[in-house]
Amino acid sequence: MKARKLTRRQAIATTSAGVVGTMLGFPFRSFGITGTLQQKKLAINGGEKVHAGSWPTWPYWDQSAEEGILDMFRSGRWWLGNGEHVTEFEKRYAEMMGAKRCLATASGTTALITALQVLGVDAGDEVLVSPYTFIATYNVIFSHKALPVFVDSDPETFLLDPKKIEERITDRTVAIVPVHIYGLPVDMDSVNRTAKSHNLKVIEDACQAWLAEYRGKRAGTLGDLGCFSFQNSKHLPAGEGGAILGNDDDIMDRCHAYHNCGRPYGNMPKIAGNPHNGMNYRMQQSQALILMSQMKRIEKDNDVRLANALYLDRKLKEIPGIVPYKPADGATRAVYHLYPFRYIKEEFNNIPKNIFIRALSAEGIPCGSGYGKQNKDGLIEEVLTSKGYKRIFSESRLKLWREQNELPGNDLLCDQAVTFYQSVLLGSRSDMDDIVNAITKIYENRNTLV
Ligand SMILES: Cc1ncc(COP(=O)(O)O)c(C=O)c1O
Repeated sequence: MKARKLTRRQAIATTSAGVVGTMLGFPFRSFGITGTLQQKKLAINGGEKVHAGSWPTWPYWDQSAEEGILDMFRSGRWWLGNGEHVTEFEKRYAEMMGAKRCLATASGTTALITALQVLGVDAGDEVLVSPYTFIATYNVIFSHKALPVFVDSDPETFLLDPKKIEERITDRTVAIVPVHIYGLPVDMDSVNRTAKSHNLKVIEDACQAWLAEYRGKRAGTLGDLGCFSFQNSKHLPAGEGGAILGNDDDIMDRCHAYHNCGRPYGNMPKIAGNPHNGMNYRMQQSQALILMSQMKRIEKDNDVRLANALYLDRKLKEIPGIVPYKPADGATRAVYHLYPFRYIKEEFNNIPKNIFIRALSAEGIPCGSGYGKQNKDGLIEEVLTSKGYKRIFSESRLKLWREQNELPGNDLLCDQAVTFYQSVLLGSRSDMDDIVNAITKIYENRNTLV
């Protein structure tokens, strides 16, 4: 496992955190805590909470965007067909991300549907996909009447394990959808190598990975197409919104056509009538204006998130039973849509994860439990037992799918993952110390939790 390569600024943030840790010695007493937390009653048991204050809220509104948005609404030019802002956003987003072309869409889901369509995913095909993700990643595969085939997760990286891809390829496999979940970059060289050797397309689900980097290049620019979400919770929010990045003009022209009711675009021949299939997945002008105002802050915010995440990594890994995420090979910058770590309950007197989460929340630290074991979700059986799927896939193929749908790495990850939402990482250094202190306090008082 390679260490993350850092920019000078990131390296400074890490070094100063490291120096403090080293100077202060053994971790449990080195977080600015005076006295031992062992004597302090846990907040869940009626004691005082470690963090009594508030946390940064999300999203932030940029008032300077208001005049332009009002002008646009007053002009009546609200949609793609007669306004200029969506096109301007596409140009700026492509530039920021280092891609040749960007297509703005209504959402991340519609970006993924478009990308799969244009890269040829069709009824009866199989698409390899990460199981540790938001449901949209595999729902879009179902929307093409194709079969999502889950590749087990590596619990250490929280990502699809590239070594497990090959064994899931069949003669119906047409594409791989690696997910840079939480903004943690996947080992894309391995994914692309396997894809190339089997002639598969690669669609990156970068819906949580704005400005994340793999070997110095932006996540979402490394496969055939990369898809992004700008839903309200995201680092670049507009309520709803999405984008596709790509470097191939013909493919991007076809994406444009598909998202715009099939109207030919760019170099596509202008044939009379309606020669192309398509949907309406267009972004609105208001979304583009909000996004351009939000773009002003994303790089600075990401720097703060990264510095705080690296600080937490260094501190939390010293606590028995707390395991920060391990970057995949080649990952050079994570952007932490959520900050994840694994909770090993055996080190905490076998206290179940849900009780640990309740105890941590009671200390004033908002936290969550990550994704569930979605490869066993009801929606999957609902689709596989539908009339259409029974027609398209043989009984023996679906039986084998069910037999292979055992993902021990992903099960372990779901059992152990604990997360902090991205805006928590926008807090101050003393907020981060509160997180460390709260977990330390729970560890030291684990015998008082039932
Ligand atoms: C990993 C992932 N994929 C896809 C999506 C779908 O994006 P949207 O909600 O914009 O449709 C999301 C959004 O949450 C996501 O996090």
